[in-house]
Amino acid sequence: MKNKSYLKSENLKIFGQGKLNGIVEISGAKNSALVLLAASLLTNERIILENVPRLTDIEKMCNILQNLGVNLKNKNNKFEIDSKNIAIKELPYELVNGLRASFFCIGALLSKFGEAKVPLPGGCNIGSRPIDEHINGLKALGAKINIEDGIVKAKIKRNKDKLRGTHIKLKCPSVGATETLIMAASLAEGRTTIENAAREPEIQDLCQMLNKMGAKIYDSGKEKIIIDGVNKLGGCIHKVIPDRIEAGTFLIAAAATSSSITISPVIPSHLESVTNKLQESGSKIIVKGNSITINPKKLNAVNIKTAPFPGFPTDLQAPFTALMTIANGESIITETIFENRMNHIHLLNKMGANIKLNKNEAYIKGVKKIKGMDLVASDLRSSAALIIAGIIARGSSKIYGLEHLDRGYENFESKLKLLGIKVTREFNKKVFTEREYKIDQDTEEIQKCKAA
Ligand code: EPZ
Repeated sequence: MKNKSYLKSENLKIFGQGKLNGIVEISGAKNSALVLLAASLLTNERIILENVPRLTDIEKMCNILQNLGVNLKNKNNKFEIDSKNIAIKELPYELVNGLRASFFCIGALLSKFGEAKVPLPGGCNIGSRPIDEHINGLKALGAKINIEDGIVKAKIKRNKDKLRGTHIKLKCPSVGATETLIMAASLAEGRTTIENAAREPEIQDLCQMLNKMGAKIYDSGKEKIIIDGVNKLGGCIHKVIPDRIEAGTFLIAAAATSSSITISPVIPSHLESVTNKLQESGSKIIVKGNSITINPKKLNAVNIKTAPFPGFPTDLQAPFTALMTIANGESIITETIFENRMNHIHLLNKMGANIKLNKNEAYIKGVKKIKGMDLVASDLRSSAALIIAGIIARGSSKIYGLEHLDRGYENFESKLKLLGIKVTREFNKKVFTEREYKIDQDTEEIQKCKAA
């Protein structure tokens, strides 16, 4: 039909003023599983990864590996990866474009095969996401790098068959750059030290798996990581750590609804900056082995400033902002990691929140209530924030843009349902004529954005 456009608009319909109750199972960490999948390129032997979350980002990474010739089998959350028959060392644009994290493969491919071609990952809705730290570090390790037509072409210099260990000082503690360089250095000649390295748990998980494969990596989780290159890496079995960001999201949802829940499995030390803030805001936190129980008593306004680990994680800034919209008092939320990660603020204000935004600083005056609305999320973590807001709100909400949510939260709505929240995933196939399908100024069009 002329001028017709079909909009598949999946949404979560959420009935507000919900309460959570019970125990929620935390999945494996997306940001660990992605880099562990990339690291499997470093060996010709079989890697078995357990506790891999079933997410669209994971599916995209698997497609990329299979495109390179990797043999991949999985049964639910257990993946078997065999990279001995890798045929090509080039990642296709359309696959990288859909998943920024695929850029990590460059370090593994270069170190294992002496060459790699990976398209520039480009920016996304939360920021420009440069990769200069990755490039500079690989050059310091002896790689020759050309960037032509948006493709990063990396080669080990002609008369060398291996990268050469060296000292690298990162300008900023970039998670991705630290991971790229650890993988590249693991098969290099000699010792590499990475100063101002990122200290995130996902990096520690990567180093643990690489050491199981025979790598010699010391002091992961500290500011200076040491990697003594080895000739070969073998296979191993490795279980992905629990997702601290998913865990924090559920704790925040519990605090927002004055609900007491238990989350497990978790590694409590991975969540300290978040549980400390929740305690400061008036929740009781009980840690028992690999589980955390939250018991909200009050909800007072607290300030947060995101920072590299062990600081408050940028990935929980949006959900925590949703929490502060109904806290008693005034809070300041400062985003220091990404330049454009406040996309949820104006949507929360449409629901009745009272937030003034000045660049990356949000000044929040807690309100008694916010009202349910139909909203479109524009990135992964703001979608979680809007769902928390929908659970808090009076009346029901429909949250669109689930392609973002499904990148990073495994079975999110079924976990919420099990905790007692009334939420359903609606799949509407609507026909819009261009005339009807008008995005009015203040509603959010579903952003066609690259993965964050
Ligand atoms: C990882 O992204 C995570 N993604 C992000 O999670 C997370 O928000 C981020 O680390 C910070 O913790 C994965 O692990 C797949 P960075 P990454 O390099 O590696 C600047 C989510 O929601 N920078 O630490 O891309 C950059 O601009 C996602 O799960 C450079 O300047 O983050 C940013 O301001 C979103 N040059 C800051 O560092 C570089 O070469 C942090 O980026 C690299 C980064």
